[in-house]
Amino acid sequence: MRFVPVSVPVAVLSVLAPEAAATATDGLLGCQALVAAGLGASILFPSTPGNGYQASLDSYYSLIVREIKPACVFRPRTAQHVSKAIKALSKLPSGKVAVRGGGHSIWPNNNVADGVTIDLSLLNQTDVHLPTKPNANAIASVGAGSRWTSALLEVEKYGLSITAGRVGTVGVAGLTLGGGLSFHSGRHGFTCDDVTNYEVVLASGQIVNANGKQTPDLFKALKGGSGNFGIVTRFDFAAFPAGPLYGRMVTAAWDQRDTILDSFIRLIDINEEHPADSQIVLYMYDPMAAVPWLSDRRATQTYGELAAASSDNAGDRYVWFSLCFQNNKRVIDKATELYQQLIDETQGAMGDIDRIIFVFQQLPKHYAQKNPGGNVLGMDKTLTEDSIVWLGEAFAKTKEAEALFQSKMAALTEELEAFAKAIGAATRWQYINYVNPMQDPLKSYGAENIAFMKRVSAKYDPQGFFQTRVPGGFKISHVK
Ligand SMILES: *[C@@H]1O[C@H](CO)[C@@H](O)[C@H](O)[C@H]1NC(C)=O
Repeated sequence: MRFVPVSVPVAVLSVLAPEAAATATDGLLGCQALVAAGLGASILFPSTPGNGYQASLDSYYSLIVREIKPACVFRPRTAQHVSKAIKALSKLPSGKVAVRGGGHSIWPNNNVADGVTIDLSLLNQTDVHLPTKPNANAIASVGAGSRWTSALLEVEKYGLSITAGRVGTVGVAGLTLGGGLSFHSGRHGFTCDDVTNYEVVLASGQIVNANGKQTPDLFKALKGGSGNFGIVTRFDFAAFPAGPLYGRMVTAAWDQRDTILDSFIRLIDINEEHPADSQIVLYMYDPMAAVPWLSDRRATQTYGELAAASSDNAGDRYVWFSLCFQNNKRVIDKATELYQQLIDETQGAMGDIDRIIFVFQQLPKHYAQKNPGGNVLGMDKTLTEDSIVWLGEAFAKTKEAEALFQSKMAALTEELEAFAKAIGAATRWQYINYVNPMQDPLKSYGAENIAFMKRVSAKYDPQGFFQTRVPGGFKISHVK
């Protein structure tokens, strides 16, 4: 007997024929529990064409994630919906759950085969609360399903800005929970440092506000600890005057790179005195382009417009690896050598590749001193030298190319890390939002922060729901 979940009455679980119960998968049982909890109107099943199930999958950034088929997608409209769902799901003995914000992750930490995927995309409202007292901050309350462009454009209506991400289609939740680099980091630190309050649904289903006064331990753990502690449904950011902003993208020829890199290194050296300045250097190889990939986007006026104009082609199979190292030209030169070698060695696969990108971003040590001890990233102690965040990306079109670049870039990353260590230019921190699933970013936060996150997880999630039932992402219980 085939169970058709959308048409069943609430009491169905207790009247299921034994053979149906035997064939119902864990995922379907989870979906049925949500229906039984009265959430049926927010559940999308694959068996109902046009109901939004496929549209939800198609809206993921990565093709790898789009191909994963959950038993149903649950699309809550409120934090109360999320709370009801977690209460219902946590009563079941098994069944996987995934949580998705903007859906920009490159690997399946936000979708789950034969499980329940909680798609927060309808929690996408941004509300600006202007200060009622002098010297108080305006607060931007941003729903966890928002992406940066819509959040920024809303706060800019008030002449304000937030420590936003820089690519407009990236989700607010994942970037902020992983720390978050921003064009405003020179003055404000990491994106998470400007969060004043998190509305969180805990494993018990309880909705709490985590901030410096209530649950300060949970508040701190959420600043970099990713999806280990609960489902954040709303982020309250301290907002500040937007001020003038000048930004543009410029493309230069490959043989100009030393000039550009020298100025990039110098910009990091003097960033503490010029904290508003920010530069990203990107190597771009596009095997299909008849001419080099050229763009000279004009200066934009606001952060929101700059984010909206950022290049972001969705729908490939992405292979990402990331490392940090000191602001040292020798390491960049080594990365450049490895980049050229990678392109040479994979010429035969270039028909299956859209782009190969290396990105270098500034990580001056003063970024970590905006909120010392206030987050779990550990950089207030470990970022002792001005550094660079390196991100290597291959945009593959086939599984074969994905596998090839996964192995090539794993080896490349290891070689680059060994080189940085050998010349005393390594930086310990790894950016959780950029690393490959085979890397171990939580470990880079340091022993004290790992122990702290384990304690917070045990306190707020004693059954380990977010460690075992929500398996996606880097789990604190797996860190040795
Ligand atoms: C929120 O999502 C809905 C449904 O996708 C969309 O129609 C709406 O424009 C979004 N709102 C914002 C502020 O992005």
